[in-house]
Amino acid sequence: MTSSTDFDPEARIASLRDQVRFHLERYHRDDAPVISDADYDELIGELRVLESEHPELVTPDSPTQTVGAPVSTLFAPVRHRQRMLSLDNAFNIDDLTEWAARLDRRLEGEAGIDAYVCELKFDGLAVSIVYENGELVQAATRGDGRTGEDVTHNIRTIGEIPAVLAPPKGTAIPEVIEVRGEVYLRLSSFDQLNRAQVDAGNNPYVNPRNAAAGSLRQKDPNVTAQRNLSFWSYQLGELVSGPELDSHHATLDYLRRLGLPVNEHARLVTNGVEGVIAFVEEFEARRHELDYEFDGIVVKVDALSVQRELGMTSRAPRWAIAYKLPPEERTTKLLDIFVSIGAGGSATPFARLEPVFVGGVTVTNATLHNEDQVRAKDVRPGDTVIVRRAGEVIPEVVGPVLADRPDGLPEWTFPRDCPVCGVRLVRPEGEARTRCVNYDCPRQVRGRIEHFAQRTAMDIEHLGEQRVDQFVTLGLLADPGDLYTFDFDALRELDGYGDTSIDNLADAIETSKSRPLANLVFGLRIPHVGGTIAELLATSFGHLDAIATADADALAAVDGIGPVVAEAVYTWFHSPRNLEVIEKLRSAGVN
Ligand code: IVH
Repeated sequence: MTSSTDFDPEARIASLRDQVRFHLERYHRDDAPVISDADYDELIGELRVLESEHPELVTPDSPTQTVGAPVSTLFAPVRHRQRMLSLDNAFNIDDLTEWAARLDRRLEGEAGIDAYVCELKFDGLAVSIVYENGELVQAATRGDGRTGEDVTHNIRTIGEIPAVLAPPKGTAIPEVIEVRGEVYLRLSSFDQLNRAQVDAGNNPYVNPRNAAAGSLRQKDPNVTAQRNLSFWSYQLGELVSGPELDSHHATLDYLRRLGLPVNEHARLVTNGVEGVIAFVEEFEARRHELDYEFDGIVVKVDALSVQRELGMTSRAPRWAIAYKLPPEERTTKLLDIFVSIGAGGSATPFARLEPVFVGGVTVTNATLHNEDQVRAKDVRPGDTVIVRRAGEVIPEVVGPVLADRPDGLPEWTFPRDCPVCGVRLVRPEGEARTRCVNYDCPRQVRGRIEHFAQRTAMDIEHLGEQRVDQFVTLGLLADPGDLYTFDFDALRELDGYGDTSIDNLADAIETSKSRPLANLVFGLRIPHVGGTIAELLATSFGHLDAIATADADALAAVDGIGPVVAEAVYTWFHSPRNLEVIEKLRSAGVN
């Protein structure tokens, strides 16, 4: 047991620095991070707090005081003409407001700052590109901020980056201009690249940032050229014999005029931090609208004179801040993979995870979609995995952190038999889905009855999922038709069923007999027949028997019903098992 008095800040700081340096190298040098950005932010955040509590322990080489990671030896080093800085972070609106207040205090005696430029914080790789007399002469990664890697040849392959500046008449070409910006990958290009990776038998990239970094830092520019990289410019380094620029928004306009891509969402706000907050809220809501990822909002003081006055710390300018959006990716342990059988029989693999807070909720299960996806991602129980929850979508496992895989971890194989009924699972040729085709599988039996009883179908009150499960398990129900000959006496022997609850259930079943035909048709759970099609069938044929005896052509003749649906309906009504159900409904006097 460690008590709080045992806590040794010096040792903890040393350990945190080691960990942070390790992860910086994985991220910047290898393009293969082994923890999520959010987990990294937590580590460095703890280090910052400890250092601020123990200023005597701060050293100039602490990762809190430096930028990026040591430069790799894969590329020639390039000394930056001006240092490439990092940005301080804000994790919530309070941090933002405090930052703005701090600036106002520093500028004491002057009116508060009203004009800021808000930009998206693109999730890619920072580069510096130098043009001399309009010609691209050198491009480098950020590296440790002072020295980067020479990626000129690779940058030249990016179509969005002009090889030669071509401003309109009236705008002169500067003698030297150093443009800074982010190389990134559009989501559509990322999907395309990963499909190709998998087809070629390679591991897919876990996210667009890693893919962009991996694609730019290629020894062979021909590889980079195939990756469809994109670029946003957002900052000016050196400028020789260019126009007098006095604001950041004028700088962006200038970059645009020179033919460099500048993101269209960059916005000048003139009502201070209020305007900044409005921008943040707007883009938090629009996070998933764009074809590229952004993981935050960068806020910059607009007036360059004020920027100069504010200056910088050892690693970041005071005049800018990065507001981080809540993380959508986290790393956690994959405890197990289990297969869940859906109401219709489809077998879906799910990951059981060590609980992790991601995308605003605690996630314990995440979908793995299907057998091929598990194979492509090669995730195995016992792996550390990256979990992602973007927006409202179901959480998914992005991939394993291979560097953390324990030796000899066995591959996971899809189970042969249905985990519910034990019958052999089937994967039809050419389909991604594996399914349980056992009509009597208790999961499917329950699924059919739940579907039949739901509000938009036969609307049988007092028959929730738990009861359906119980009745199926006890053998009281095998299909929806059994509801109408239900043995209510059997319930009297069970816990939790008094006269009232039994009467209520009996009444509810009785009442359901007079539901409209469309509700009944929908309730039968015929493949492809949703509420709208059920309504069409009911109005066109008027009676269940008429639908049941119609041939596929007659069904397809109904406006709004295509051949696939017609075939599905015809097949359903010609299955002996389904006809049994219909017979039970008919003899019970269901409408
Ligand atoms: S400005 C001195 N603007 O974020 C300011 N950076 O965490 C330099 N980034 O190294 C950066 N989008 O790679 C700026 N609109 C944006 C950005 C942006 C993404 C990256 C950039 C930088 C990192 C700092």
